Amino acid sequence: MKEEDWIRGTVTDRIEWTEGLVTLRFDVVPPPFRPGQFTSVGVEGQDKEGRPARIHRLYSIASAPGEPLEFFLVRVDGGKVSPHLEALGIGEAAWIHRKPKGKFTLDRVPESPHLWLFASGTGVAPYLSMLRTEEPWERFERIVTVQGVRFPADVAYEEELRRLSARHDGRLSLVTCVTRMDPGPKRYHGRITAALQTGKLSEMAGVSLTPETSQIMICGNPRMIEELLELLHERGFRDNTRKEAGHLTYERYW
Ligand SMILES: Cc1cc2nc3c(=O)[nH]c(=O)nc-3n(C[C@H](O)[C@H](O)[C@H](O)COP(=O)(O)OP(=O)(O)OC[C@H]3O[C@@H](n4cnc5c(N)ncnc54)[C@H](O)[C@@H]3O)c2cc1C
Ligand SMILES: NC(=O)c1ccc[n+]([C@@H]2O[C@H](COP(=O)([O-])OP(=O)(O)OC[C@H]3O[C@@H](n4cnc5c(N)ncnc54)[C@H](OP(=O)(O)O)[C@@H]3O)[C@@H](O)[C@H]2O)c1
Repeated sequence: MKEEDWIRGTVTDRIEWTEGLVTLRFDVVPPPFRPGQFTSVGVEGQDKEGRPARIHRLYSIASAPGEPLEFFLVRVDGGKVSPHLEALGIGEAAWIHRKPKGKFTLDRVPESPHLWLFASGTGVAPYLSMLRTEEPWERFERIVTVQGVRFPADVAYEEELRRLSARHDGRLSLVTCVTRMDPGPKRYHGRITAALQTGKLSEMAGVSLTPETSQIMICGNPRMIEELLELLHERGFRDNTRKEAGHLTYERYW
């Protein structure tokens, strides 16, 4: 990557949702991009031979176009980059690639009455960027976010999603699935995949999940994506491809 494509961004806001899970906002407004796209964020580290080098990874942009860059990050223990980014405090800096990229965007999603947005962990980041713009609200009658996390403390952005829904006549339903602790009656205790299999997902969303009425985006843990795709394929959902309009658009984080 060319040196002039990188910019040094300084952290202006930091939310620590729970230990190891943060939102970082930078003093950088990126050039126009499509919600759902990602960019590289890096720190000074070392290459394989131990020489000083910039090491970087891809992160979905959570902010809307035209707004200061926001990322939603988890610290992957033993990881080369995320522990450094997660530890950044206000006033500290990271390298940010100037040109967002990626195809996990709403222009790849065909028309349909309902839009389902499935995420595990920080996979909700691209949906925040989308939902912070008018496009999904103009195109879909109903939107459902399905967030899968390990612990109740890992649930992030719920209040903002509720506010966005209220601003749009309650057309967004939130289903939160918590796996490693009983989250109480308003959330599902178990994996996203189990919520789908038991029929609880549609019940909690108040929206039926059928190929005739639904477009589905899925983002995050690759194993979650594989298992969810298998269940959805069995139910008649098909991948969206360049040649053929289907129902499923997805992005693996690793
Ligand atoms: C398109 C795209 C967008 C992404 N957006 C985000 C984002 O918005 N927020 C975010 O937190 N991460 C995001 N990621 C993941 C991110 O790029 C890094 O992979 C992650 O931060 C780990 O980097 P690391 O250098 O710390 O770990 P590494 O040194 O690269 O190694 C850690 C290993 O952990 C695995 N791994 C990677 N991510 C995770 C994870 N979240 N949980 C468990 N294991 C993991 C991989 O197998 C990897 O080999 C995205 C990845 C892609 C491909
Ligand atoms: N607070 C935090 O979130 C935090 C803090 C510090 C470090 N970390 C580290 O960050 C990494 C990522 O953690 P994460 O919790 O964001 O991501 P994750 O491991 O992908 O878990 C997120 C959710 O996805 C579920 N899931 C995993 N595999 C699935 C599958 N095949 N099908 C359906 N659902 C599936 C998990 O359920 P299960 O619980 O059943 O696996 C969990 O509810 C881990 O290395 C973790 O140790 C996380």
